[in-house]
Amino acid sequence: MKKLIKNGTIVTAADEYKADVLIENGKVSAIGHDLTKHADEVMDAAGLYLFPGGVDPHTHLDMPFGGTVTADDYETGTIAAAYGGTTTVLDFCLTNKGEPLKDAIKEWHEKAKGKAVIDYGFHLMISEVNQEVLNELPSIIDEEGITSFKVFMAYKNVFQADDGVLFQTLLTAKEHGALVMVHAENGDVIDYLVNKALKEGNTDPIYHALTRPPEVEAEATGRAAHLTGLAESQLYVVHVTCSDAAEKIAEARRKGYQVWGETCQQYLVLDQNDLAKPHFEGAKYACSPPLRESRHQEELWKALKMGHLHTIGSDQCSFNFKGQKELGKGDFSKIPNGMPTIEDRFSIIFSEGVKKGRITINEFVDLVSTRAAKLFGMFPEKGTIAVGSDADIVIFDPNIERTISADTHHMNVDYNPFEGLKITGEPVSVLSRGEFVIRDKKFVGKPGSGQYLKRQRYYSPLKIKETIFR
Ligand code: URP
Ligand code: ZN
Ligand code: ZN
Repeated sequence: MKKLIKNGTIVTAADEYKADVLIENGKVSAIGHDLTKHADEVMDAAGLYLFPGGVDPHTHLDMPFGGTVTADDYETGTIAAAYGGTTTVLDFCLTNKGEPLKDAIKEWHEKAKGKAVIDYGFHLMISEVNQEVLNELPSIIDEEGITSFKVFMAYKNVFQADDGVLFQTLLTAKEHGALVMVHAENGDVIDYLVNKALKEGNTDPIYHALTRPPEVEAEATGRAAHLTGLAESQLYVVHVTCSDAAEKIAEARRKGYQVWGETCQQYLVLDQNDLAKPHFEGAKYACSPPLRESRHQEELWKALKMGHLHTIGSDQCSFNFKGQKELGKGDFSKIPNGMPTIEDRFSIIFSEGVKKGRITINEFVDLVSTRAAKLFGMFPEKGTIAVGSDADIVIFDPNIERTISADTHHMNVDYNPFEGLKITGEPVSVLSRGEFVIRDKKFVGKPGSGQYLKRQRYYSPLKIKETIFR
């Protein structure tokens, strides 16, 4: 069946224009005017934007952490994402030292199978580099299409890898054309500061932020960037929270290093004061790296505008306040880290960014969709509206006003960190591969309809490194 979306304004990272979009077999088959005669179903999108589906490069669905498991799995998490205009998520596949990487990938496929309502792919965590790992990686890239590896520089004795592992991962990624991602915080220093705070009787959630100051993030970001330069490899720094770390990325890029930076909407609109909320409410806001003093927010917007930061991920990692965040009562270091953020990434950035004049509408599309699709080997199928691309389309009303609340959100979690935030602009309908997942603000998708994405490499190792992303 051919669908036609008429009279909408198409917005990509490069253009904004009025045209009709014809959809056939899950793809955009034509863009133009007066295409009505070709369609079986016609939708009128007058007054609405047609954006490429959001690409969220950073989620943790059905993830174990701190003795518990995230409240959202692939079904509830991807439904919430779709409501918010995200049609692709890249989730982190955790691995265990001494176990084959392929076992972990199999486990992650099982988590998603029959549940995901939008397309998804995996980044692979690397916690050790030995002969077994080096033997496995080429086939994981080729057969699984997993072309990005994640190294944690923090979470000592849990996920943290040392600099040797990071450096060898960078070298391996260079050889195979993959992209290395880092959680950049100095885990050893944090461990010292956390133990000191607890010994001194400082157990409240605010100490989560005070024991992970901007310096530990900036130091690790700079260190990872230097190692990337030394390895002549490529790096993507996840969840950058502060001007200190963004400046390290800018500095590396000035030297010509291939270093990219992601921030998240929570760092642009929330701040450290939230962690000081009474009655342990601050625990709702414990994520790592932590929320910062509010002065960092405008610095991050500036860094996005200036091209020092390049994408916005959600870092969705949801835990209920009751029973999960509460595990950290009396010891902030036991609060499961992360927040429910997958749903409103797109609308918050539109509202706070475009509507408030901080970024252009094309920059918005680049930040929430196109750039991640390019960096993670999914462009042009994902990240744009063009003939031949997947018909992942968000039909968006730029004028609807709404207040975010846990009472109305679709995540499987008992609070929303953006509770009370007034935003303008909202997806009305969302298509994934040409099928409605959200229609007139109602979920009409099917668990299991989301497809696993085998991704292209960051660059072909046979070619000279492409510079088109610079
Ligand atoms: O606090 C966070 N961000 N939790 C998820 C894991 C991570 O570090 O990204
Ligand atoms: Zn992280
Ligand atoms: Zn994360």
